[in-house]
Amino acid sequence: MRNDDMLMHVRGASLFVDDIPTPAGCLHAVLFTSPVARGRIRSLDVSKAAAAAGVVAVYTHRDVPGLNQVGHILKDQPLLAVDAVEYIGQPIALVVAETQRAALRAVRLIEADIERLEAVFDPREAASRGMLHGKKRVLVNGDPEAAFARCKHVVQGRLSSGPQEHFYFETQRALAMPSEHGTMKVYASAQAPGAFHHHIAEVLGIPMHKVELDIRRLGGGFGGKESTAVWVVAPAMAAFLLQRPVKLVLRRNEDIATTGKRHAYEYDYKIGLDEQGRIEAFEVVLYQHAGACADISPAVLGRAFLHVSGSYRIPNIRVTGLNCRTNIPPNNAFRGFGVPQGTFVIEAAMVRVAELMGMGVTALKRKNLLQDGDTLPYGMKLERVNASRCWEKLDQQVDLAQREAAIEEYNRTHSDTKRGMAVVPVCFGISFAQTALNQASSLVNIYVDGSVSVSTGAVEMGQGVNTKIQLIAAKTLGIGAQRVRVDSTNTSRIPNASPTSASTGADMNGMATKTACEALYGRLRRFAAQHLGQADPEAISIREEGVYVGETRADLTWEKLVAAAQWARVDLSEHAFYATPDLHYDLGTERGRPFAYYSYGTSFTEVLLDCVRGTYTIESIDVVHDVGKTLCEAVDRGQIEGAVVQGVGWATLEQIRYGSDGRVLTGANAYKIPDIQYCPNRFEVTLLPDSNNPYAVCNSKAIGEPPFIHGLGAYFAVLHALRSVRADKEPPSLPVTPEKTFMYLHEPVSERP
Ligand code: MTE
Ligand code: MOS
Repeated sequence: MRNDDMLMHVRGASLFVDDIPTPAGCLHAVLFTSPVARGRIRSLDVSKAAAAAGVVAVYTHRDVPGLNQVGHILKDQPLLAVDAVEYIGQPIALVVAETQRAALRAVRLIEADIERLEAVFDPREAASRGMLHGKKRVLVNGDPEAAFARCKHVVQGRLSSGPQEHFYFETQRALAMPSEHGTMKVYASAQAPGAFHHHIAEVLGIPMHKVELDIRRLGGGFGGKESTAVWVVAPAMAAFLLQRPVKLVLRRNEDIATTGKRHAYEYDYKIGLDEQGRIEAFEVVLYQHAGACADISPAVLGRAFLHVSGSYRIPNIRVTGLNCRTNIPPNNAFRGFGVPQGTFVIEAAMVRVAELMGMGVTALKRKNLLQDGDTLPYGMKLERVNASRCWEKLDQQVDLAQREAAIEEYNRTHSDTKRGMAVVPVCFGISFAQTALNQASSLVNIYVDGSVSVSTGAVEMGQGVNTKIQLIAAKTLGIGAQRVRVDSTNTSRIPNASPTSASTGADMNGMATKTACEALYGRLRRFAAQHLGQADPEAISIREEGVYVGETRADLTWEKLVAAAQWARVDLSEHAFYATPDLHYDLGTERGRPFAYYSYGTSFTEVLLDCVRGTYTIESIDVVHDVGKTLCEAVDRGQIEGAVVQGVGWATLEQIRYGSDGRVLTGANAYKIPDIQYCPNRFEVTLLPDSNNPYAVCNSKAIGEPPFIHGLGAYFAVLHALRSVRADKEPPSLPVTPEKTFMYLHEPVSERP
């Protein structure tokens, strides 16, 4: 089974928001945003813009009919600025015109007199000034001080990892259409149906039952369409006020300049190992570069914070998490949701301590790998740990010791080029750390012709969740997948849906679908028994589109069965709900069971470095990842490949530059994402065989985000090659761009300021 959506994409047949035929009388909205990183709005004159050709209306915060607020976790984000601005790109006014071009022209006529105030762009500086969103988080387990005192080897360091632009193909957009009784239908590219539905209703000042949000699919979300509702709410507001359809589509560079990114991090760490190379203690301070509003940052920090132990057993630990408030656009979710950032620091610490000990880092990692019975820092005791199984499988495939020896030999005999390698283990908790979000529902309708429609709260964004749900429904009902169609995600069919994120889309919505299909199956089976004059419904089964009595196929096909059941007044529609069981977390003690289970994997990355030019090529990546029993192999492989490449991009190429005024300087022309040429020649993905997972639907495991972490292998493999040239300076920050590599190789050692 393949992902049918993909075929449609490559044929250009998929409908994205901007492909919906523009309704008659449709207007176009463009935001006027702050040119200043922090300031006080002295005055705002929109009269020239309002009078410009084609302009229908210009709105400011005064025109918001309901609540002027789109804050996600904290209510700190006005839809349109009132009297202050906190970042370049913050929406101040909304211009609505007959064409997008007219709106864009009019935006330039808006005159804003903004008093510039001092802005902060450095997370460490923000932390030192106490500029935080929410409270500092501290998790302590064991006795790190006493443990460090005992340690044979101790290393400390400072480190940073950079931001990342989502670069979804479809930029932020929505089309809003008013209808009778003051209702509003909105088509949007959004990952959070429930939350965005709520935001629209609040801003419009109408009850949620008057708003219908419909999401067919996204041209990629990657987390960037999960929390900030501005670009969906703004056109809905204009449509409501004008009673005409309104569309808002961000242009690429506007999207890059004004929307949130992956959070950059700064780290201070200290790691201590005993004589045998066992990790005894780890201390880390995370400075998360959150930006101007809290957005979803507290949750991202929380997940990084819970993942700083990576795939290793660490008995004594102190983790401090600071969510730093700075004057850049509020950063948000991005594939991995803090886990890549949290994993980076422990992986980097392992490399440094191995250097100090004069020991191979691969062996050191292997020695400290998590096993059954180990306890994570927040008190969760692990079972069914597949970390070693993934490692061993990978080792069998690539022969790590042999590769390591070959690379050492190569580096000993070459000076213009060097090789580098890295083995990266992944341990990624699955569930929303916010327990309340772990709920989903599904509505399954069987029509009288035997076709089946499934609606869930899951949003299809290229990750194949609809294919998985389709397969689950077909399998449970005993019919072919072609009979099942997964409908759009619609708030009138599925209310209050959690965002499709945290990789839980298929897990939870799949489970709800399975439950609904099981109920329908049971009902149809009882009806079939009656219909066939069988006393015992247990003897009946529905398989391969037919009804069986024991092993005998009855003269009753699926189509006939359904038609007969409908005629006999059997309900052919079912709604089911799923709440992931046994989850809890106490923020006071930083202890609990925030995740239902863990996703494991291990990868091997090898690079070749040109020591003269500082360029490198990624020669090979081998991944072994644990997907449980795969729901759809093609989808899972696609997710792994895509995530790894995106991770490699973050680790090596993708660099956002900000001007000294806080402006994003890297538009689409200057921002590099990995392309097919950049992918390794050898790219082997293996699904861990014989894996089982009783905690998710049909024994599967979530796969959307965890493999992103393997991308770190590219950073560490380049670092390995670099360190074989010289190790007399601090490792470069992530991403290790060719430019940084060049500087590392050729720049004299500089004193730390
Ligand atoms: N794959 C594609 N093609 N496009 C996307 O936008 N988003 C990722 C991942 N894979 C994404 C993707 C992110 S951030 C998440 S959380 C998961 O898909 C969400 O889907 P799932 O929960 O169904 O795995
Ligand atoms: Mo994914 S970052 O959890 O949307």
